[in-house]
Amino acid sequence: MTARAAKRPHRTRVLCLSGPNLQLLGVREPEIYGHETLALVHERLAARAKELSATVDCRQSNHEGLLLDWIAEARTSFDGILLNAGAFTHTSLALFDALKAVAIPCVEVHLSNPEAREAYRHESKVAAACVGKVAGFGPQSYLLGLEGLLGALRR
Ligand code: DQA
Repeated sequence: MTARAAKRPHRTRVLCLSGPNLQLLGVREPEIYGHETLALVHERLAARAKELSATVDCRQSNHEGLLLDWIAEARTSFDGILLNAGAFTHTSLALFDALKAVAIPCVEVHLSNPEAREAYRHESKVAAACVGKVAGFGPQSYLLGLEGLLGALRR
């Protein structure tokens, strides 16, 4: 390690994952999910992370297997995970298992409040593998989730 690198403060590394259909934010049911694009959410998150001495790597996929691969990668490359698994939240035992396997803190994030919506959205398969959950605050849920995750990591 160079002397300059040694002096650089450690930035907490967060992996932010968004699941199926979240690439359509901004046009997808705006009355539920709002008008902001995922790119804008990611931009805000990166700016907030910087203020909080963290970095955030934001990724989105419609493919469960890719989300699983990214969670596995997080074990050695990230300190914590922010996860909006979209509809996989309610179906994916595999995501739950992956989070348990890597054993790094994860915060579950949702733009809407699934528990105030249709009954089939009330159950989260991933919740029991997470340190906490933020839901119902639109894009701000991601920012609140980041703050909660960093708090949990630094406690
Ligand atoms: C969501 C809620 C899920 O029920 C839904 O399937 C989504 C988005 C949210 O962010 O509010 O795709 O995760």
